[in-house]
Amino acid sequence: MNRRRFIKSSLLLAMTSTLPRVVLATNPSAGFDYELIVAPADVNIVPGGSTPALSFNGGYPSPVIRAKQHQPVRIRVVNQLNEPTTIHWHGMRIPIGMDGVPFLSQPPIMPGDTFDYEFTPPDAGSFWYHPHMNSVEQLGKGLVGALIVDEAEKPDFDADLVLCMKNWHIKDDGSFTALTTPQNAFRMGTPGRVMTINGEMHPTYDVPAGGAIRVRLLNVDNTLVYDVTSTDSDAQIIAIDGNPIAQPRTLGNHLIAPGMRLDLGVIAPSKAGETVTFKHKNKPLVTLRAVTSKLKDRRLPTLPLNPIPAPDLENAETIRFAFEWNANITPIHKDGKVNYNFWTMNRRSWEGMSKGNIPAPLAKLELGKTYIFELANLTQYHHPIHIHGHTFTVLKSNKKAITPFHTDTVLLGQNETVIAALVADNPGRWMYHCHIIEHLKTGFMGYVEVS
Ligand code: C2O
Ligand code: CU
Repeated sequence: MNRRRFIKSSLLLAMTSTLPRVVLATNPSAGFDYELIVAPADVNIVPGGSTPALSFNGGYPSPVIRAKQHQPVRIRVVNQLNEPTTIHWHGMRIPIGMDGVPFLSQPPIMPGDTFDYEFTPPDAGSFWYHPHMNSVEQLGKGLVGALIVDEAEKPDFDADLVLCMKNWHIKDDGSFTALTTPQNAFRMGTPGRVMTINGEMHPTYDVPAGGAIRVRLLNVDNTLVYDVTSTDSDAQIIAIDGNPIAQPRTLGNHLIAPGMRLDLGVIAPSKAGETVTFKHKNKPLVTLRAVTSKLKDRRLPTLPLNPIPAPDLENAETIRFAFEWNANITPIHKDGKVNYNFWTMNRRSWEGMSKGNIPAPLAKLELGKTYIFELANLTQYHHPIHIHGHTFTVLKSNKKAITPFHTDTVLLGQNETVIAALVADNPGRWMYHCHIIEHLKTGFMGYVEVS
């Protein structure tokens, strides 16, 4: 797409606040609302060349799936890769059978096979989807997309921008560089070189002047923690990791680690041509440019809160999880092979699993009971700790003041301990892991069993 067409279509997008369903069943008996075909495809990220990516429906950015709160959505996944895959719906509190984790929740979708996912989102907000197999490569090469759940009653924004942040591991000719190196896997992960929003380097989106704009930032990257700021000092945080916050607050800066999301509300500049830029540290990520509109005196609407179960702290049981590394092993063997048992959760590394071999859970939780997770990061690196099928209420940190909030991914700073509660109300075996994908691959993964 050339630049003018891009801006035109993004204007259209901004004005209508909805994205077209990419593959929509014309016949309701087709059995799906969306079809995602997972296959290799050449995509254009850098001007100079094409990138041999893995794609949903042949391109990047991936289709934005829009579901509605409390209404079922059916998504057919067709695997045209030459390896197995599954698709996980990150942040969704849905039944285990739809969680998209191989062996724990479903058999892998083999090459040539199809799997129909169907679930009813209890929460509205910004979520995303990605495979849960061979993740360094499948996610790293492009299998990441936004899943937006619209509120049962749609809030009154004049534009709604879905912005997926990803740094591609590619050279100027578009070819891939290493998605992981042992040296980085045992530190902060291997950063990609080309920073993109929806697959474009620093794109500009037109928004109606004076309009109330919802900006959804989704970190679909394998590695990077974005430190987001805005040139609009009035930009408001309205939702964190999909969940609206009771008291919106000024952005200042906010860390968005892999897996995490941030919804911002901004009132667009009132003069056509004026801009607002969002940055990662001092690097521009994306610019919004006001175009003439009739809008006046617009205010940011209030988002309804999600129905996250309230923890019963008085009767809660505390479980401590220590995030460490295995000091007794060399991360890299003499022959250059990576040791996959480097990072440990309660002194255990993820052993991997297969149909006949599922390791023991890290903890067994009683259905309906509240648990307080004491998440202790005993390393000098940060780790975004993600749980499937549940949403934490973050209560306290030993490093900073916390206004309690809901999230599926808790970012632990170096040597930070965070206290987060959850109600174990969803039966199943739920993945529980660091979302820095190379960390998950080298030990930081396990699961909890709710029954
Ligand atoms: Cu996005 Cu198991 O995670
Ligand atoms: Cu980590």
